[in-house]
Amino acid sequence: MTIQWFPGHMAKARRQVTEKLKLIDIVFELVDARIPSSSRNPMIDEIVANKPRLLLLNKADMADPAITKKWLAYYKERGIPAIAIDSHSGKGMKDILNKSKDILKEKFDRLAAKGVKPRAIRALIVGIPNVGKSTLINRLAKKNIAQTGDRPGVTKSQQWIKVEKELELLDTPGILWPKFEDQQVGLKLATTGAIKDTILNLQDIAVFALNFFIENYPQQLKQRYNLDSIPDEIVPLFDEIAKRRGCIMSGGYIDYDKTSELIIRDIRTVKLGKITFESPDQYDTN
Ligand code: G4P
Repeated sequence: MTIQWFPGHMAKARRQVTEKLKLIDIVFELVDARIPSSSRNPMIDEIVANKPRLLLLNKADMADPAITKKWLAYYKERGIPAIAIDSHSGKGMKDILNKSKDILKEKFDRLAAKGVKPRAIRALIVGIPNVGKSTLINRLAKKNIAQTGDRPGVTKSQQWIKVEKELELLDTPGILWPKFEDQQVGLKLATTGAIKDTILNLQDIAVFALNFFIENYPQQLKQRYNLDSIPDEIVPLFDEIAKRRGCIMSGGYIDYDKTSELIIRDIRTVKLGKITFESPDQYDTN
């Protein structure tokens, strides 16, 4: 799904999330474990405000496990509840409920002390497009979609999904816009597939990705493309990969678009290994 975000759409998206916040106890903020910072909505703190929040680093199966560990330590240090999950396989699903219970324990204890009958935790999933919101909802739902339109403040069309006895999810997630202003962020979003039909140039994305691999994951590059060594310059590297993969046009010219596509596809399908494009070391100031 490609969404063009204009100021009007942003305002509407924000309004929709803000409306739903009234119905729930906790927000599950979904980010991409390969780009935990770049895949956050830039205004999420302001939008979610004081509502308790659990940060879910999704697609952890595609991310570098050592850097995911670093991110989790980073959040822990800052008192931000966060867990790594993989919505495809279902890894981490149990932790979502357990962690939510921890976060909301005080609130629910307080309600119980006032004599309020225990009820399920109500949650809303929010995140930028393609971060895995629908996949997570389907994974948690296991067909337990319940129509509960009779609840006060809930419109007829609002559905809750029961996740075991203790958790209920709003079935429509909050879709928020990514950060656009920083070009590096745009390149990371494009490389990982968050922006699919990208307005960014294919070759620009591939150049960004190759430079990143040269610096951070040279071994994976060598292995995947059978390179003895990595050329110092980006163009000879492109040429080497193109020759090895048959991305040559008639007349013997290199097909740079085809080569770029191949490199990007290899990254998105994890053929170049489990990769994370940003580390918390870069974000030490906040
Ligand atoms: P959205 O609702 O936030 O827009 O995202 P959605 O669930 O549609 O997921 C976007 C893509 O990310 C899908 O792939 C989905 O399968 C994949 N995905 C979601 N969670 C995970 C995860 O934890 N690990 C991995 N490896 N992939 C995940 P797609 O290529 O668009 O579709 P398809 O291959 O599932 O058909």
